[in-house]
Amino acid sequence: MTRTIALITGASSGIGAAYARLLVDDHDLVLVARRADRLSGLAEELGSRGAAVEVLPADLATHDGIAAVTGRLAAGDVGLLISNAGAGGYSPLTDVDVADIDPLLTLNAVAPIHRPRRTSRNARGR
Ligand SMILES: NC(=O)c1ccc[n+]([C@@H]2O[C@H](COP(=O)([O-])OP(=O)(O)OC[C@H]3O[C@@H](n4cnc5c(N)ncnc54)[C@H](OP(=O)(O)O)[C@@H]3O)[C@@H](O)[C@H]2O)c1
Repeated sequence: MTRTIALITGASSGIGAAYARLLVDDHDLVLVARRADRLSGLAEELGSRGAAVEVLPADLATHDGIAAVTGRLAAGDVGLLISNAGAGGYSPLTDVDVADIDPLLTLNAVAPIHRPRRTSRNARGR
């Protein structure tokens, strides 16, 4: 049986890690987040259940981090994308540090809509 590869962002904790544990029986996995130690621990746990698990540390509040993920997606073998990484931190606008605005918007709004550019290998003909 061919195993679909699922790429999960925000896999180092919470909902993303839960998705990884949910999918592991019939998916191989690419785990994305900043905390590489947590991703490695999860990869070890899930690898022992028979999945091939890649760890891809990336900060999705940065364009370099987004490029690392779109670069991996461009390989064309990922069949399921769970774009889950994000952060909240709601507070009155007057309390928001201006330096936090761009990274938060990049993480929560820009990263989820970035995709690899279409190539003959990954285009679906539309
Ligand atoms: N739980 C809820 O009730 C709820 C409600 C509404 C929306 N959500 C959304 O659902 C998603 C998961 O929530 P959760 O409760 O599972 O939260 P969580 O436990 O805090 O997990 C967030 C995940 O996103 C990753 N992440 C955060 N900043 C990142 C960055 N700059 N680059 C890459 N990865 C980053 C974190 O990994 P690292 O820190 O290792 O990078 C972590 O794996 C989030 O997008 C959250 O906003 C959750």
